Amino acid sequence: MCGIVGYVGAASDETALGVVMEGLARLEYRGYDSAGVAVLDGDHVEVRKRSGKLANLRADIDARPLPPTATAIGHTRWATHGGPTDTNAHPHRGGADGRLAVIHNGIIENFHALKTELLAQGAVFSSETDTEVAAHVLAAEYDRTGDLTAAMLAAVARLQGAFTLLAVHVDQPGVVVGARRNSPLVVGLGEGANYLGSDVAAFIGHTREALELGQDQVVTITPTSVSVVGFDGRPVEGRRYHVDWDAAAATKGGYPSFMAKEIDEQPHAVADTLLGRTKEDGELVLDELRVSEDALRAVTKVVIVACGTASYAGMVAKYAIEHWTRIPCEVELAHEFRYRDPVVDRHTLVVSVSQSGETMDTLMAVKHAHELGALTISICNTHGSTIPRESDAVLYTHAGPEVAVASTKAFLAQITACYLLGLYLAQLRGGTQADTAAAVMRELREMPEKIQTVLDRMERVREIARFMADTRSVLFLGRHVGFPVALEGALKLKEIAYIHAEGFAAGELKHGPIALIEPGQPVFIVVPGPATPHELHAKVVSNIQEIRARGARTLVIAEDGDEAVVPFADEVIRVPATSPLLAPLLTVVPLQVFALELATAKGLDVDQPRNLAKSVTVE
Ligand code: AGP
Repeated sequence: MCGIVGYVGAASDETALGVVMEGLARLEYRGYDSAGVAVLDGDHVEVRKRSGKLANLRADIDARPLPPTATAIGHTRWATHGGPTDTNAHPHRGGADGRLAVIHNGIIENFHALKTELLAQGAVFSSETDTEVAAHVLAAEYDRTGDLTAAMLAAVARLQGAFTLLAVHVDQPGVVVGARRNSPLVVGLGEGANYLGSDVAAFIGHTREALELGQDQVVTITPTSVSVVGFDGRPVEGRRYHVDWDAAAATKGGYPSFMAKEIDEQPHAVADTLLGRTKEDGELVLDELRVSEDALRAVTKVVIVACGTASYAGMVAKYAIEHWTRIPCEVELAHEFRYRDPVVDRHTLVVSVSQSGETMDTLMAVKHAHELGALTISICNTHGSTIPRESDAVLYTHAGPEVAVASTKAFLAQITACYLLGLYLAQLRGGTQADTAAAVMRELREMPEKIQTVLDRMERVREIARFMADTRSVLFLGRHVGFPVALEGALKLKEIAYIHAEGFAAGELKHGPIALIEPGQPVFIVVPGPATPHELHAKVVSNIQEIRARGARTLVIAEDGDEAVVPFADEVIRVPATSPLLAPLLTVVPLQVFALELATAKGLDVDQPRNLAKSVTVE
């Protein structure tokens, strides 16, 4: 939530505003309630900010140009404290003279107490934000120390909560100082210029060399130097890394939206996540995990923690991991796990799943699991992010940058990585479980091609979606691994098309939700393949009949060759046959395309749906 960019070039470099605006455009997916910049101009700091999307700020700057400068910071906001207005937009000035400007991501939990104290000292506030409080604290510390880095160190000691802060001061042109606590910040290393950003997208157009910062660190950048200290003031070394994607990967590449592009990239996302993780004989090698095989063999319980779409990937994983390994596996929403009293010990493997690696709820669950002594593995798509750093080990998904707020390719990559982890645990257990793992791996390698087949068949789904543009409610049913797929289908429709949608386990319908069925009610049914054990296929076909008898319009997702569904389906959407546990990689695709097309038909911004942000860095 909130995107942050900072840039410092040589004194003669006048590109800072352009660099920061470009970074904000790439970070806008993190929040789009308002946008603002601060540029250093001689003896004053000029702040320009506008509520609404970045385009509003751009239009304002076009109408009233800002001075050329070598030092600038910029912010795109997802509102927490104070509504999405011009005055609440960042940057905020601090101190009586307003010579310092601050941008912020996160929440300062003790802002009220600090504000009361500052008001008593005569500070004047113009916004309702917690950020302005931080700006005044920082300004007071600057007046005392005369140095922005020293002031930041003193200020963060007084702040509670989670935050990334960037600050500039007119007395120190050519310097941007940042601080992070439980909120993201990375450094971009340039030639004669340096960058700060909430993630590498902020500067990917200029450099692919980055420096990872740890928690509770303050960083000071100048055109030629980057220095990092802990909140205790001691120098620390950041970890340098090369970003393995470029600016082109973060553009729409001719597609009308990032979401459309990312849906189409799914075969690659799955293939790349599988790449290099098996030997020629099919044996899985996950050396990158850097967890001893003995520690993994000693695992007696797996707990998966995640939020939203990532939690549905976790639900799919539960079915697979228990089936392949016979190790009990639970899935829990990260924000629920953290605040109850979970039974976790050193033989529990806690797996977090997160595209961004910054979701605060998931991060807190991982930290809690650590405190309880569990072994923690993160499945994550973003190098240099916080959750992998806080975990014992990481298994990266290789979906590439996901920009659309609605997760699609990351979901498929997460499911794939969960399969890999489950199969690896099975392989380590040996015997028939290892044989099963080898057989599943062979089939998993065929999935990118099958996903492409599904994508190639989506024309009818698009027609159905356009036809349903005025629909007010859609239900989604699934069973076994089709249940999380139904939940994901409903979430996609809610978040980008603003249509009431519910996902149910098909077996649960008769226990209440069937009362919602009235003539014409559209219902998607994710049908398990006929090979699914326990006659689940037949049971779901019965469920379809039950709702059809009550007037539902049935949109059935079924395997090629499954003729049993035909008499009860108003529409049949076909996917290639596959073994039951792998089917989510196929059956979710039509639901993503349906949501995208319907939202597009309604004229909505599918990449930046209202009220949401890509990376949820507040609890
Ligand atoms: C998915 O479409 C959502 N935007 C959201 O549910 C997301 O999956 C969730 O916030 C978790 O994000 P993460 O994977 O970055 O942790």
